[in-house]
Amino acid sequence: MPDIKIISEGKVLSRVVAGRRIEEVLPLLSQHGKIFIVCDEAVEGLARKVAAAAGEIVKTIIPVRASETDKNIGTVTLICSKLLSMGADRDAFLLAIGGGITTDLAGFAASIYKRGIGFGFIPTTLLAQTDAAIGGKNGVNFLELKNMIGVIRQPEFTFICPEPLLTLPRRDFISGSAEMLKTFIIENKDDNYGKSVRLLKTIASAPDRQAALENSMESLEELIAAAAAVKAGVVSRDQFESGERRKLNLGHTFAHAIEHETRGGVSHGEAVAIGTVLAARTAEKLGLAKPGLAAGIAADLEACGLPTELSFPCGQMAGAMTKDKKAENGLVHFVLPLAIGDVQCRDLRVEEVIALLKED
Ligand SMILES: NC(=O)c1ccc[n+]([C@@H]2O[C@H](COP(=O)([O-])OP(=O)(O)OC[C@H]3O[C@@H](n4cnc5c(N)ncnc54)[C@H](O)[C@@H]3O)[C@@H](O)[C@H]2O)c1
Repeated sequence: MPDIKIISEGKVLSRVVAGRRIEEVLPLLSQHGKIFIVCDEAVEGLARKVAAAAGEIVKTIIPVRASETDKNIGTVTLICSKLLSMGADRDAFLLAIGGGITTDLAGFAASIYKRGIGFGFIPTTLLAQTDAAIGGKNGVNFLELKNMIGVIRQPEFTFICPEPLLTLPRRDFISGSAEMLKTFIIENKDDNYGKSVRLLKTIASAPDRQAALENSMESLEELIAAAAAVKAGVVSRDQFESGERRKLNLGHTFAHAIEHETRGGVSHGEAVAIGTVLAARTAEKLGLAKPGLAAGIAADLEACGLPTELSFPCGQMAGAMTKDKKAENGLVHFVLPLAIGDVQCRDLRVEEVIALLKED
């Protein structure tokens, strides 16, 4: 497995470590004396397994509900109060076990508790393993707007292991496929995009998903690590998103508006899939991408079980897109795919983009 690091100004800020079994995280924990686990209640069994293997250095397990409505400052406060009541001091270490909601919540709580304690992640969804648990963005929803408050602070490590994926519900697995494919649309070294489409398509269409997953563990591990490496590389070059990191938001300006408009009816990954196709259509309309790119991406995403069409008129996205936290002077940073493995950032007016999409 490659040694994946997020490095800035010669300093290692964070490591992504891959393993086969969950117990392989232990060497990363042994240097900490007091570990507090925040876990998604859906994977509490996994958290108990880690706690049992780690022994008395684990002081408590704090289960949280992983829903977008619970991903808020109230849950962050709850985590901080539990830490305080359990006597967590400044050398406490917070270990989050769960999907992107849990790692966002725990990363934010760890960043503000006693002005910041160390933290690490064991992501348990495909989406969090390839994206959410890497890069140090820790945000929560605020006033019904996605990830509106938060910090950029790196976890000490992200431990990636395919074992948790075996219990992940089908829809969540497919949702994670969108972030993996998005990553390889941004950077397509060794045709990882094509390899991922083939693998994820096989898993999505298998009558026995569990068996398909078991059979695919090796390739899956390799592709998750490759996606993590793409993200770590981009974050190393632009930790605070002043330039290149914006590329990782491919599909996300649309996705956040879709999630807002459907009020949770569409998952984050599903919204990213639809958003990526809309971004490709926008690129085609602007003459930046060859005709057919959007249809090709849509066909690939659909083969992997993802939705690619809006269920409401596209004009309805305008309000939320204008409020995008990355909007400046009425312009929004859109990431547009020009080809597989090549994307470009463009500042565009929301009305202009909506008008282009309405032309269809
Ligand atoms: N911080 C970032 O850079 C970043 C990047 C992308 C996405 N995100 C955030 O990530 C969130 C989405 O993350 P997600 O898709 O991982 O969702 P999630 O955390 O909501 O998990 C999805 C569902 O799967 C369940 N689950 C998780 N792991 C499981 C397992 N191994 N077995 C059984 N059930 C399991 C959860 O309880 C939940 O119901 C969004 O809130 C999004 O904003 C953050």
